[in-house]
Amino acid sequence: MSQNQIYFFDTTLRDGEQSPGCSMYTTEKVRLAKQLESLGVDVIEAGFAIASEGDFASVRQVAHEVKGPRICSLSRAKEEDIVAAARALEPAAKSRIHIFLASSDIHLEYKLQISREQALELADKSVRMARNYVDDVEFSPEDASRSDRNFLCEMVQVAVDAGATVINLPDTVGYTVPHEYASMFRLMKERIRGAENIVFSSHCHNDLGLAVANSLAALEAGARQVECTINGIGERAGNAALEELAAAMHVRQDQLPFHHNLDLKQLYPTSQMLSEVITFAPAPNKAVVGSNAFSHEAGIHQHGVMSNPLCYEIMTPSQVGVPANKMVLGKHSGRRALNHRLKELGYSLSRPDLDLAYERFIEVADRKKSVFDQDLVSIMLTHLRQSPNLGQHGSSGSSAVAAPQP
Ligand code: KIV
Ligand code: ZN
Repeated sequence: MSQNQIYFFDTTLRDGEQSPGCSMYTTEKVRLAKQLESLGVDVIEAGFAIASEGDFASVRQVAHEVKGPRICSLSRAKEEDIVAAARALEPAAKSRIHIFLASSDIHLEYKLQISREQALELADKSVRMARNYVDDVEFSPEDASRSDRNFLCEMVQVAVDAGATVINLPDTVGYTVPHEYASMFRLMKERIRGAENIVFSSHCHNDLGLAVANSLAALEAGARQVECTINGIGERAGNAALEELAAAMHVRQDQLPFHHNLDLKQLYPTSQMLSEVITFAPAPNKAVVGSNAFSHEAGIHQHGVMSNPLCYEIMTPSQVGVPANKMVLGKHSGRRALNHRLKELGYSLSRPDLDLAYERFIEVADRKKSVFDQDLVSIMLTHLRQSPNLGQHGSSGSSAVAAPQP
């Protein structure tokens, strides 16, 4: 394995799901997990098994049906959590229990109301217990970036000595900046006995808009796992966006010479599938997968791009799976153009369904100048909700629109 091999740990189904309006049913999680497998992620955090019956069922079902990536469940440093995670992960081909425990004084005092010594005991006990169930245990000192560095090292050493295989240093509140975050990883590599056998991992939140920059800084400082989500969804301002990390590594191989297992062409289809499941799309100006990410409005830019796309494009849409030749649809577009675009988005409609979708499309086009992909996805979703009988015509046989097949 190359020293520069990066493991992508996707937490869309866990941290991503924690963002308002993003909860998902088990069937939706399984569908997304299969797509994440096609995308080539190394680890899928499928949920927090103890959190609810639904979360338990999701972790178990993903573990049952998705055999490529390692499947992970989150767990507090508590016996009942570890047991629930282990049970949910039983069907997995490769499994991991991810234990988190606060390391910052503010969390220890006000959230957990325990002393540093008690926290160290819990770290030791919980990691040892998890190792009785699985070979692969990740330990996260929560709020690591706001923790006293000496105590952080102490806690990480306890977790490593107890058998943790992956040490994740979360920037839980999105507070750190790149050089500071990088220095935490260097410190661990210097101070932790046995660091050479540990995979260090970054986990960044985007409260200051620095999640991707901080994650890349961690990789440069020796982290080899990066935790992230599709479309950057997650608690509050979200997590580091997987597609942005992957695109940065691709476009700036000269500066970021990392290898990974992702198939970049699956980035856009995965983003689209998530948008459909959670019923909202990323902002139009979102890097890599936003609807404007490859649009050129200014005449001078359009001219430059037509002469040579490299004038204003650092990557081509097709490299990240965005269908080439994205036509802008409006009220003058016909059924054929609509059908073509829907097919590119993965929807295959029968003629009667297309007629109904077209009616709705014209209504939307009348109100807006241009109809974007997210409008089309929401038209499809409205169809499914409002016209249950459409299924009789649908090409999938059971629903009005065949599920997108990237
Ligand atoms: O942000 C965070 O600290 C987390 C942990 C559970 C890893 O999501
Ligand atoms: Zn998080």
